[in-house]
Amino acid sequence: MFRAIPVAILSSLALSLTGCSESSLEGCVETLAGGPLPIATARDQRFQGKVRESTARCRGGEVALKFLNAPWVDWANYYATRDAASLDDLETRNRRGIGGALIDLEYARVELLKFNLFDNAGTYQQYLTGRPGLDGPTLKTWAEMRLPPTHPNFADVGGAGEQLCTGALIRGRTLTGICNDLRNPLMGSSGTLFANNSEFESLFPDAGLNVIARNRHGDRLSLLKPDPQVISRRLLTRAQSDPAACADGHGNPGVALGGSCDYKKAPFFNVLAAFWIQFMTHDWFSNLEEGHNAPESMKVGCTSQLVAGVDTPLTPQDVARLGCRPEDAIDRGFVAAGSAPPTFTHGGREYATRAPKTFRNTNTAWWDASQIYGYDETSRRRVKRDSTDPARLQVVLVEGRSAEGDRQGYLPLLDASDPKLPDWSGQEAVAFPDNWTIGMSFFHNVFTREHNQFVDEFRRRAARTPDADSGLRNPSTPARIIRYRDVTADELFEAARLVVSAEIAKIHTIEWTPQLLYNEPLFRGMNGNWFGLLNGEGPLPDSLERALLRLRNAPSSRANDLYSIVASGPGIFGQGSGKRGWSLSNPDDVNGGTNHFGSPFNFPQEFVTVYRLHPLVPDLMEYRETRSPDTIQSHVPVIETFRGKATPFVRQRGLGNWALSMGRQRLGLLALQNHPRFLQNLRIERLQSPTKQIDVAALDIIRDREHGVPRFNEFRRQYGLRQITSFDDFIDRHLPPDSPEATNQAQLAATLREVYGQHRCDASIPITVAQRNADGSPIDDCLGHPDGSMVDNVEDLDTVVGYLAETTRPHGFAISETQFVVFILNASRRLFSDRFLTSSFRPEFYTTLGVDWVNNNGPQQMIEPRAINGHDDQPVSPLKRVLMRVIPELESELTHVVNAFDPWARDRGEYYSLEWRPRSDAREDDAFRAPRAP
Ligand code: HEM
Repeated sequence: MFRAIPVAILSSLALSLTGCSESSLEGCVETLAGGPLPIATARDQRFQGKVRESTARCRGGEVALKFLNAPWVDWANYYATRDAASLDDLETRNRRGIGGALIDLEYARVELLKFNLFDNAGTYQQYLTGRPGLDGPTLKTWAEMRLPPTHPNFADVGGAGEQLCTGALIRGRTLTGICNDLRNPLMGSSGTLFANNSEFESLFPDAGLNVIARNRHGDRLSLLKPDPQVISRRLLTRAQSDPAACADGHGNPGVALGGSCDYKKAPFFNVLAAFWIQFMTHDWFSNLEEGHNAPESMKVGCTSQLVAGVDTPLTPQDVARLGCRPEDAIDRGFVAAGSAPPTFTHGGREYATRAPKTFRNTNTAWWDASQIYGYDETSRRRVKRDSTDPARLQVVLVEGRSAEGDRQGYLPLLDASDPKLPDWSGQEAVAFPDNWTIGMSFFHNVFTREHNQFVDEFRRRAARTPDADSGLRNPSTPARIIRYRDVTADELFEAARLVVSAEIAKIHTIEWTPQLLYNEPLFRGMNGNWFGLLNGEGPLPDSLERALLRLRNAPSSRANDLYSIVASGPGIFGQGSGKRGWSLSNPDDVNGGTNHFGSPFNFPQEFVTVYRLHPLVPDLMEYRETRSPDTIQSHVPVIETFRGKATPFVRQRGLGNWALSMGRQRLGLLALQNHPRFLQNLRIERLQSPTKQIDVAALDIIRDREHGVPRFNEFRRQYGLRQITSFDDFIDRHLPPDSPEATNQAQLAATLREVYGQHRCDASIPITVAQRNADGSPIDDCLGHPDGSMVDNVEDLDTVVGYLAETTRPHGFAISETQFVVFILNASRRLFSDRFLTSSFRPEFYTTLGVDWVNNNGPQQMIEPRAINGHDDQPVSPLKRVLMRVIPELESELTHVVNAFDPWARDRGEYYSLEWRPRSDAREDDAFRAPRAP
């Protein structure tokens, strides 16, 4: 069995070789002769996204060879991995390029699963040492994931004996997320600890907890050093050609046209996509409780800067020039455990059992739409159900709104009895109400309507065929058929929740992410996660499913190395749900498709870091109306829709107009000097400080420092990416050196050098144990520069700043490769670990209609009439389908839309074009007119 898999990798390589008859063939033959790259057995032997010269030549010819020495991943330079210009006349080369990229990505995932799981709940020691007869990475149950005696469901799951979730606790998604895994009831539930993806010893670099960290950073770091507000103002502020017209994001009074805030725009991703990801993070995690942090307040910088390498207090003139605020303060982040972690010895080395400080995820970690449906008793009280049919969510009709979708209603408002911060008054009522704007209002309204659409369709079927089998079953009486007429309102509500959350997961996996990472390998990879790489290649062999089951239950950690490779065949979604003889009475069937890879699932704190995506948000929204879609009617400042102010905007202007406006507008590039002005000057009433304002860009840096996230260079090493050795590495070598873009990037590198500084290096001190130099020697303070020379303080660079500085990116990547590796691991894991997205994706839980709805993106399948990036017969994408149902007045606009997150009036071209040009019937669109003269 184990031998079969390297052969599979080899054969996919061979597949990408078929029919070679050209010069790069030589490289391919050498590659084959060398055999497949072995999977690393030690952390410092990882492949770092870099391949041998022969492999590069085989998969990308001269282009790939040219960038072999760059720190950035190689697959981005292969044939067919970019736009049409990367396509070769020889189809075999294109296949090798795409196939090669997929192989690199799979290697990365295997290594990430192997080297980057660090649980903080107390299971890490077992992960390393294993249990008798079982390697640690194959463990499946943990005492730490039991419900404690104080938990209200302690007795229900077996109390002090063996714990197993049964009956009502396994029927659907529970409020707090317990019992997703039947044998690990606590896993992923609200209030459990964030994990880490970096070695515990690499965390909290500014605390200097070990000699390596002290070597790496000297005494240069602390919570407010380098100064976060200075970093924000110098490196993150959006430059404005007309500061008065922007007015720090407030635009013109009264949302008039003429307000103008410049921002760097991504041509292939729209504002819907920006708010989508905020909507997602509100489902997955939160460090805050009910919109606030710990009671103690702290200052947040604007006090010092480096001058000629020396930390120097800011003068009042400096403060005025920078525009920062020394009086700002914010509440400190919560800490779950702050005492020194216990240690243990294994293989002659001492290890910590957890991170030096730990933090609670106050949300459920599952993809369960908890931002809509709730994650604890308090948030659930804000979720309002329709009193006339409690299977539905409550909506209200808004006077004066007469579009077709408006009849599906709008969210009701928070009422006097709802738990809420005073800041949330006047907002619509949802489980997760914090940082609310028109964007959050939009998606919550859309999925509230979608929930009701599903319930209504179910009710129609129940009326037509009341005695037919609904597919639903009660695990307490598994043999009893539940007819449509028997389904209670509560049962239907919970089934609808399952359907909506799976739809959201699908939209994210096959619609949002392939547009975020707009190229062919990622299209295939993400579709592979959902449908399987072998989708469309004939029926899946049963043997694959059986092989996965065997791998999942094998006692050796080697099985883990292979599991994700084999799973890429049938896909992760639905894994185990089609097992022959699947039975609701058998916990090992219900649970059988999940794999936690030896470490209980929760998001790592590093995941929060890479989702600090505030530059996506524009300051001003280009508001349009469906009656005249090409015309920008007004500029609505996002800040004017903050919290309760969103309500009149959504209700008076309507969901359809907002969908059109956000669908056509480009979002902000994730880049340096591109944070929204309004977020740097955000007023938060609950703050005790004299300014009551906060710079969210600075706060992103501070929070990561509070959470002990490694700085950028060590972060990359920890995730198996190559380090940088100078700020000049951020200049994209694909650009002509004298191009305006390269010049601008060189200026940014110089600013990074000024803000973070340089030091005289000492080649005798090692600074990391995560990687080694190519010759096997330790990486030292000089990073390959001559001993005693001045080197950039690249080690001190905050991770958020570093990933925004990355300009060398795979084609169509709205994010950087550093962020991407974090997604590869955690986006896969949140599918692998969730039984409702694997073995419990079945009618017994979702109803038959529910399973069809998720598979077909609605009541029935629809196919796009045209080929998309060379792929025929593509289903109409899932968010587009949702919008067609809940905002039918968008029909004519949506006809042209392929991916709801690609700017709606853009011509997508033939093959992954990033060009900003209008489709033929939108040439009059204001967004394509030349920008007005400054
Ligand atoms: C336009 C509206 C937005 C506002 C007003 C806003 C505001 C804020 C504020 C005030 C915080 C700091 C909380 C704290 O640590 O005290 C925060 C954190 C955060 N924001 Fe935003 N944000 C917005 C949009 C976004 C978007 C588009 C994303 C994209 C994913 C995002 C992702 C995050 C993340 C990941 C955190 C950390 C949350 C945590 O630690 O639990 N935000 N935001």
